[in-house]
Amino acid sequence: MILEDIKIHEIFDSRGESTLEVEVLDEKLNSFSAQIPSGKSRGKGEAAVLSFKEAEKVLNELVKKELFNKNFNSIKDLDDFLIGLDGTANKEKLGGNLMLGISVAFARALARKENKELWQVLNEEFWGGLIIKKKPLIFSNLINGGAHAGNNLDIQEYMVVVDSKDQDYVASIKTLIGFYKKLGELLKTKYKLEKIIIGDEGGYAINFESNFEPIKIMEELLAAEESKKSFSLALDVAASNFYKEGKYTFGGNEISSEKLNQVLLDYLAHSNLLMSVEDPFDEEDFNGFKEFNAKCPDKWVVGDDLTVTNPELIEKFSKEKMISGVIIKPNQIGTVSEACQAIRVAQENGLKTIVSHRSGETEDTFIIHLAKAGNVDAVKIGAPARERLVKFDELIRLYN
Ligand code: PGA
Ligand code: ZN
Repeated sequence: MILEDIKIHEIFDSRGESTLEVEVLDEKLNSFSAQIPSGKSRGKGEAAVLSFKEAEKVLNELVKKELFNKNFNSIKDLDDFLIGLDGTANKEKLGGNLMLGISVAFARALARKENKELWQVLNEEFWGGLIIKKKPLIFSNLINGGAHAGNNLDIQEYMVVVDSKDQDYVASIKTLIGFYKKLGELLKTKYKLEKIIIGDEGGYAINFESNFEPIKIMEELLAAEESKKSFSLALDVAASNFYKEGKYTFGGNEISSEKLNQVLLDYLAHSNLLMSVEDPFDEEDFNGFKEFNAKCPDKWVVGDDLTVTNPELIEKFSKEKMISGVIIKPNQIGTVSEACQAIRVAQENGLKTIVSHRSGETEDTFIIHLAKAGNVDAVKIGAPARERLVKFDELIRLYN
């Protein structure tokens, strides 16, 4: 397929930050676009993000000329070309956001050409058409802390995990929305609040007595629910955000890696429902990850800032037994084919795979197609509210 033109538009994500929408035109001048989310709590190894002005300049002065009249037979074909043109380790020249936008919009054009859904095109190219009919778990962030909120929680995300295996998504998402509202009412009553503050990913962002309290509250509320069998809990500690010079500032104290390990193991011991812990340690505290992972073989110990959707890092940290699961965020790596490769490597290494949104989201539903194409274990898509609802709607559409 030949791309006739590429344009970019400046749009604003759910946090009000400037980001990119990339539009490509196919041979028949049909238009396909992709909107790129942005993260606030980024890993150091993520692909470079260009500002709108920088992306516009590089697109007009370099990319368009090089792409002109070139024929690409697959998504990988286009991505390899972009990677070659960029030529840097971290996509500093073309920007991971611009590259991913072109890559996703191209995949949409290809899907239209072949008269298929986007997920089918991804599945055929990267998984050889192999589809296992499983519905991913939904990780839904209901209480926000850390970099995503202005409250006193050090832990960034307190999530409920919904298992829809016995139900369709319509029913389980309805239950999730009911639980989200009930939790909001409970917090309002408990803390005598007239209005409840919401964080970046739609979760409640008020002050709590301790970092453990949200787990306790959600666990108690779930115990009274009929649907409790299909719910569990997960954390994204995002520990890099409270780590400095070998120490973690947690719960108002400076603590060592060993102490944080004990605290998190204690959380697991005191919660029956907690099944997954993401970024429990700083992205350079390899020992912390290793020791923690060894102590909880039945839990998901998930890399995000640690692994930054980089296939080589995923493989390395998996072999070193630092993680048992991994977050996949396409804009951390910057092309569709590398994001698919990251999922494949994770699967080959026996890791749990979680396709994830960013804190600054758009209306784009690419990640849901990626999740279905790659038969992943879970999707992480925020609270069932506001701008995040489009992802829930797309889940229902693709799986029902
Ligand atoms: P971000 O963080 O999208 O703000 O970078 C989300 C996460 O850490 O999972
Ligand atoms: Zn994270």
